Amino acid sequence: MKQIRKSAAVILSLASAAVIIVACSKGGDSPAPAPAPAPGNPCATKNIVVTLSSTNAAGCTGGSVTASASGSTNFTYNIDGGTFQASGTFNNISAGDHTIIAKDGDGCTKSGTVTVASNASGPLFAAVKAVIVANCNSCHTGAAAQGGQNFGTDCNIVNAAARIKARAVDGNPSFMPQGGQLSAGDKQKITNWVTAGGKYSD
Ligand code: HEC
Repeated sequence: MKQIRKSAAVILSLASAAVIIVACSKGGDSPAPAPAPAPGNPCATKNIVVTLSSTNAAGCTGGSVTASASGSTNFTYNIDGGTFQASGTFNNISAGDHTIIAKDGDGCTKSGTVTVASNASGPLFAAVKAVIVANCNSCHTGAAAQGGQNFGTDCNIVNAAARIKARAVDGNPSFMPQGGQLSAGDKQKITNWVTAGGKYSD
């Protein structure tokens, strides 16, 4: 009788240890930070290392992030709190800082931060962007951007290339900026860029 009660108590303490393990795997990096994890925590003895690399974004084209974890097995990965996936490669990622979490088969996790840089634009795009910032963005940025055109991002400027030329160079159906016109030199910058292809890299 006594023997049975004793093993029941052991099971009970194992069960509560298991609860602590779950809490650890949902929390921060492993091995878990102090206080020392409960005995039996599978994350406690692991030294998971995440290696991160990235390729640049450019205009509307996102960059990529590749994560590779060591120190355990059966890793899955997520980016910025998204769904975990078996591949450590994430494509079409915007420029900026991103958080990667690697999770092993026991649910032990390790996070890291990687920066996706942005390629410099081509000179024709850069010249047009300067014209737009100076002459258009008082009415064409933010939530209240006029005519549904928000030129606040490089990608939006690229996507609007044809309409920018139509309005600012050809006056079709009327000239922009509203109530005036660009100088001949500024119009030429827009024409040069659109003629070259109207891309971020031009
Ligand atoms: C003083 C405010 C103002 C400025 C500055 C301005 N716009 Fe506009 N824009 C408007 C308004 C209002 C509309 C919506 C009415 C219309 O389409 O005429 C509009 C609409 C547009 C549209 C969308 C409609 C279409 O024809 O595709 C484009 C593109 C545009 N503007 C380009 C420009 C460009 C390029 C510049 C700078 C060279 C510029 N705008 C500067 C007020 C402005």
